[in-house]
Amino acid sequence: MNPNSKLGPTLQALILRAEQALDRCLPPAEQSPAALHRAMRYAVLGGGKRLRPLLVYAAAHAFGESDPQLDAAACAVELIHAYSLVHDDLPAMDDDALRRGRPTCHIVFGEAMAILAGDALQALAFEILADDPAHQTDATTGIAMLRVLSRACGAEGMAGGQSLDLAAVGQQLTLAELEHMHALKTGALIRASVQMGALVARADAEALQALDRYAHAVGLAFQVRDDILDVEGESAVLGKTAGKDAAAAKPTFPSIIGLDASRARLAELIESALAAIEPLGNKGSLLAELARYAGHRAH
Ligand code: IPE
Ligand code: IPE
Ligand code: MG
Ligand code: MG
Ligand code: MG
Repeated sequence: MNPNSKLGPTLQALILRAEQALDRCLPPAEQSPAALHRAMRYAVLGGGKRLRPLLVYAAAHAFGESDPQLDAAACAVELIHAYSLVHDDLPAMDDDALRRGRPTCHIVFGEAMAILAGDALQALAFEILADDPAHQTDATTGIAMLRVLSRACGAEGMAGGQSLDLAAVGQQLTLAELEHMHALKTGALIRASVQMGALVARADAEALQALDRYAHAVGLAFQVRDDILDVEGESAVLGKTAGKDAAAAKPTFPSIIGLDASRARLAELIESALAAIEPLGNKGSLLAELARYAGHRAH
């Protein structure tokens, strides 16, 4: 089954575009240090829904920006995401052996190389943004993008959320604490994707705010769906081991409010994402498609 078969032709084509750009920006597998390069390529290529690059393109499309201007931002955010997955799967964190339907990076390359691959992917993301010819002429936008991405993956974003996630094992979080953790560990990078697309497209302050409301809701919805899929999904479809959250005593939406209330919260979040971009009308159609996809995806 094509994992992205639920998406329409424009988004399918953008997935291919992002994958070709990722292939180009990663170091060659044969070049020294070859083991590290192979681990980096393994972690990024050959799987994944590419939701974050799609959000970069879709946000900018709403303001008429052309795709080549967006490739660097799309790659940068996916490299950060891939790095976060490599580290998330390590024995010290979620200790997972399956990712995107294949053995995890540390199972194939060893723990030390997986840690380094994550480190190098993170550095490469910022290098690509800094080197992007599209921003050499406009340093203000370039620096704004670096700021958005660095905040989203640091202590106030993904890494902070991951630390809350680890500290929460076996704990009973309130719903507000859980939503805060999810907003950081998953939501921050999703928000950054939308913001970066909008920055390249020079969206005005009002539009940026509306897009941020959209992205906040989609980011949270995405992790609520992830939590639901961990309970309901099958490993073969998910491409990762189902049932891990309960086994590891992670607080999740289903564990705190139950499956039915989680589904209701998910529907509510998708509705608020769609409401936020309503003023964009037809120009927001790709963003609307992605919001629905985030809420209904099967893996
Ligand atoms: C998985 O992200 C980790 C979460 C933040 C929930 P994705 O579900 O986007 O993973 P890929 O990129 O499609 O493999
Ligand atoms: C991962 O959340 C979030 C990040 C990688 C930042 P999960 O631990 O729920 O993701 P999966 O389920 O392993 O993909
Ligand atoms: Mg995790
Ligand atoms: Mg995990
Ligand atoms: Mg999960």
